[in-house]
Amino acid sequence: MEKIIDESIQGKTLSLEKDNKNKRNLYIESYGCAMNFSDSEIVASILATEGFNTTHELEDADLVLVNTCSIREKAETTVRKRLEKYNAIKKKRPHMKVGVLGCMAERLKSKLLEEEKIVDMVVGPDAYKDLPNLIQEVDEGREAVNVVLSKEETYGDISPVRLNSNGVSAFVSITRGCDNMCTFCVVPFTRGRERSRDPQSIIDEVNDLWDKGFKEVTLLGQNVDSYLWYGGGLKKDFDKATKMQIATAIDFADLLDMVARAEPKMRIRFSTSNPQDMSLEVIKTMAKHDNICKHIHLPVQSGSNRILKAMNRLHTIEEYFILIDNIKKIIPDCAFSHDMISGFPTETEEDHRATLAVLDYVKYDYGYMFAYSERPGTMAARKMKDDVPIEVKQRRLTEIIALQREHCMLRTREHVGKVEEILIEGSSKKDDSMWMGRNSQNVVAVFPKASYKLGDFVNVRIHDCTSATLIGEGVGLSHTN
Ligand code: SAH
Ligand code: F3S
Repeated sequence: MEKIIDESIQGKTLSLEKDNKNKRNLYIESYGCAMNFSDSEIVASILATEGFNTTHELEDADLVLVNTCSIREKAETTVRKRLEKYNAIKKKRPHMKVGVLGCMAERLKSKLLEEEKIVDMVVGPDAYKDLPNLIQEVDEGREAVNVVLSKEETYGDISPVRLNSNGVSAFVSITRGCDNMCTFCVVPFTRGRERSRDPQSIIDEVNDLWDKGFKEVTLLGQNVDSYLWYGGGLKKDFDKATKMQIATAIDFADLLDMVARAEPKMRIRFSTSNPQDMSLEVIKTMAKHDNICKHIHLPVQSGSNRILKAMNRLHTIEEYFILIDNIKKIIPDCAFSHDMISGFPTETEEDHRATLAVLDYVKYDYGYMFAYSERPGTMAARKMKDDVPIEVKQRRLTEIIALQREHCMLRTREHVGKVEEILIEGSSKKDDSMWMGRNSQNVVAVFPKASYKLGDFVNVRIHDCTSATLIGEGVGLSHTN
């Protein structure tokens, strides 16, 4: 299943076909959200023209880049452990250079150079185009840092290479940064203000992916519903736009419609949605196009209005329920997933029960659930005491996960007995004689390979399931092919 932080891919290294002209080896490892994995593809594209091949072997690397995540303390601890490992290799390969990219680079800036002696280079998420210069500095024996956040950078002009791709599904980034300032969240500090990418460059990338045989794209952003193109610039500066810019502005519903029309057979997904920014127009656009998948990742974080307010989530739980009800009216077969945080400062048992009640109301297909982790510099860290004891956070988290598990089973079972269109993404990990793919609702399905091929859209009769996987049999190619 597609995940915010997919544990199975954390630390995955990426490699490309070798270009004999290139003389140095880059080893790039990524942590965190899909956006980081997508950014690593941009970085590899930039360095492919700077004399670097990518390698899977840390021991062969001349340059090691680690694209990092700061969302919870654990994410940072994992990266620091990896730096120790690189250090051990560096003892044998003293010329090897180490660069930290992404959110930890942005959060800690040059402090990282002091704290982690082996780091040669620190590069924030908006500075990847400066990598050739920074590498030169490092080659000349200096430490290099660029953590400047940008008003315009969307990397719209870089056509990312696809690393370790299944050749079927790809991420396409549409916005960068976030203006929402949820009080627990470090993202607005590490990824800067929100800006949207030129829709034409998005369409061009999607068309190019289709021509290369891809069948599914996921439009990526910290808050995709907030997408707004009016010729470039920050979302917050839209109130200074000219009349002409306002009249011709493109919002997320417009963009979805454009992408769906540009490639009517390409499956389209998007992530992440924010309840306060999701419009009915987006939902109507989803309903209008068969190729837009019927699944919304709609994080809510808590079921308590008091906690939502303290988190600076700008909606009430009643408004959230109205949104869910409206979506179900317009798209009855829409699947929902969520993010939930247990143990935000001041959370009581009553607040926690309100969170469980949200799960019971929506009965999400799946979700990502976290214990609150205080992040330095955020509003919550500055203004509120992290006062829920760790055992209480954990116990509440366990209860949330247990209830979600029941709903996961319930929702998965709803597909049994139906014939659904599955896009083949690869072989089943457990059984090589079976294909693995997903239905529109993002549920994984496995079925015998028969004569079907990777990338086919297959009608599959679902006859059984486990808690999160559908088991079926192909009954023919779908008309989408
Ligand atoms: N809009 C983003 C969400 C950012 S982080 C996106 O596109 O994915 C993903 C999730 O991590 C959040 O929805 C939230 O549930 C969780 N999270 C963020 N900060 C956290 C913190 N300080 N402690 C625990 N969980 C956190
Ligand atoms: Fe973080 Fe809230 Fe934005 S969770 S990424 S500040 S929508």
